[in-house]
Amino acid sequence: MALSQLRLTVLLLPYFILCATAFTTRSWQAASQLAAQKTAAMTIDEKVGVLTGVTMAGSRCNGDTHPVARLGIPALCLMDGPAGVRPGTGVTGWPSGINAASTFSRRLIRERGAAIGDELRGKGIHVWFGPAQDLMRNPKGGRGWESFGPDPYLNGEGGYETIVGIQSRGVQACAKHFTANNQEHNRYNGSSTVDDRSLWEMYGYPFLRSIEADVSAIMCSFNRINGTFTCSSPKLLSDTGFLRSNGFKGYVITDWGADHGFAAENANAGLEMEQPGEYDPQLEGGGLFANGGLKDSVLNGTVSAARLDEMVKRVLTPFYRLGQDSGFPETNFHTQQTGGPYNQNIVVRTPQHVALAKEIASASAVLLKNVRTIRRPGQWYGNGGQNQREYGLPVTKSKIANMAVIGEDAKLMDRSLCNSLNECTLGTMSVGWGSGANSLEFLVAPADAISAYVGTSATIASSLSNDAAAGAAAAAGKDVAFVFVNAMSGEWIVDIVHDQGGDRNDLELYYNGKELIESVAAVCNNTIVIVHSVGPVLMPWSTNPNITAIVYAGAPGEQTGPSIVDVLYGHYNPRGRLPFSIADSEAAYGTEIVYDKTIGPLTIDYTEGLFLDYRYMEQNNITPRFEFGFGLSYTAFSYSNLQISNQGPFKVIKFKVRNSGSVDGTEIPQLYLGFPNGSGEPKKVLRGFSDVGLTVGSSKTVEVKLSVRDRSIWDVVTQKWVVPSGQFKVYIGASIKDIRLTGTF
Ligand code: BGC
Repeated sequence: MALSQLRLTVLLLPYFILCATAFTTRSWQAASQLAAQKTAAMTIDEKVGVLTGVTMAGSRCNGDTHPVARLGIPALCLMDGPAGVRPGTGVTGWPSGINAASTFSRRLIRERGAAIGDELRGKGIHVWFGPAQDLMRNPKGGRGWESFGPDPYLNGEGGYETIVGIQSRGVQACAKHFTANNQEHNRYNGSSTVDDRSLWEMYGYPFLRSIEADVSAIMCSFNRINGTFTCSSPKLLSDTGFLRSNGFKGYVITDWGADHGFAAENANAGLEMEQPGEYDPQLEGGGLFANGGLKDSVLNGTVSAARLDEMVKRVLTPFYRLGQDSGFPETNFHTQQTGGPYNQNIVVRTPQHVALAKEIASASAVLLKNVRTIRRPGQWYGNGGQNQREYGLPVTKSKIANMAVIGEDAKLMDRSLCNSLNECTLGTMSVGWGSGANSLEFLVAPADAISAYVGTSATIASSLSNDAAAGAAAAAGKDVAFVFVNAMSGEWIVDIVHDQGGDRNDLELYYNGKELIESVAAVCNNTIVIVHSVGPVLMPWSTNPNITAIVYAGAPGEQTGPSIVDVLYGHYNPRGRLPFSIADSEAAYGTEIVYDKTIGPLTIDYTEGLFLDYRYMEQNNITPRFEFGFGLSYTAFSYSNLQISNQGPFKVIKFKVRNSGSVDGTEIPQLYLGFPNGSGEPKKVLRGFSDVGLTVGSSKTVEVKLSVRDRSIWDVVTQKWVVPSGQFKVYIGASIKDIRLTGTF
């Protein structure tokens, strides 16, 4: 196709009046030709400028490049990511990546991406640092919540849909952090020792899906792999390396100062863009391309002129491919200035975005326990006489006379105490800290949403701290007590809470959450626990009979309050699934964070290979408290009719799911594949999922197509994907353990 031009008219409310826009996308080939023409017209200084950040202090965005105005090339605005537009005004605080994963919904993940894309575009942001596609190798890893959990397949699908969504709005997605970047301690210098097969099947796999989604850029990470910094690794970045051999056509950007050594070493290895364009003494990296480094390398011949041109062409190609050369809004904010010409405070959130953020937050809430019973009032309930009372969820508003809302996590944080990295030590936890945090500007806390919903229909006793005695006093004698607890983490640069250096120290709830829950449950036999956390927490209290329901709500973003009200009161039938396992000990996960705060050449051994999370637990016969893929509903589903057939290169798996309960709901059927004996694979690996909305009594046929690669393992000898010979097992279920149908091929 000459110009495969597709005219997309994108209405961007409410600022469409300002910049109603249409944009023209091009094929990779056409965009690359245009980029090559522009490159040919540039001076060497202009070329280096396109490849180099303007320094942190000089940037409007998280990172800016140098413009080439005479050729119509603006300063690119590069911005975090990945839970929306990084804190700013007038944007939506989206559910985090791990919550997007909990929905197991390609539709919702893509819609989230598209809506974030609208907001980015409205702010004039060309490149978004997201999605994060780092596996949650250890549940305590500080940034695990930014991406889609420990499973490579789920991470790949989450990344794929996010990228397609973002780029449908003409904004470039930059998948990060490539790769094996899974803990915050020593993140600047640690070396991840990863074998080749695990690199392909685990830490590289999600990025293969990014490439298949036509991702514009990929960020190389801070860490080293097997001794080599990722940003200077030919094995990862060169024309015959991992990314390019898998068809990557965009460009590689450094994480902030993640290039080390010499400019030529990095440029020749396959790095294209350096950010933020200055040396960082803390990590002893960055500033190699800047300050004459890249130019000198070209002049002295250590980087060829052809390579320099290739780098520039690669950076400019996505710009032209996504039509950013025409009609793209001017960058209209400044991260480092409160006033000035850039700060137009344009509101890019819309009522539709808020509704979608709320829907995703509800869809990501995982109902872990629900003892739905109807009993005579117990001794604590003096008001009901012979009336019957409901326990568990959903709560019927009209049946509750008095209730309690308990826990620091239920209340709005004092925003004035949070910094721009969202370090909020107190108040509800809606997102983790660091560069991946998002806006709290419009956050609606659970306690406020509950009281707005309940109105005068019930008396609410609140104890919005984690004081266990005060919590128990509020809960005693109540028809229901909602207890909100949390656990949090974030990026290494944010180090004030618990002095934890980003990664969590353990899997306990924060601020004595366990004691709070137990004190409340001791006095209220309808205690409902809501957990806001960045990842798994220990839940030894889950079997307490007075705890009638548990909702794991993750890090749900600004609509945390209204979204949980919908779930608790049955306006949204829970459908979220755990994107990780919740086990009873840290040892059950089989990996460890290497806690070392010195910046030395630390080695992190990925000895677990392919066996993360549920894969490790199944292998070692460890039964988690709540398993991967698990989540209850207010209705029930039945499975039948498994059929396996061939269609060209695909294995096609079909089965039927029926809503056999009494309310409408959505089921998340999952396909796990058992590879032939001797293949070295875990017992079961996720290879498909769907979200199936079903009215009462209705059924649908679900189809999952397994590609050749879905059935392959990485062969380190031939360096190819190969389908192992032997019998494959197909497991269809409602979680990794709740298998309803099995078959073979
Ligand atoms: C983080 C990246 C982020 C960058 C720019 C780094 O510290 O690791 O994820 O995109 O800062 O803010």
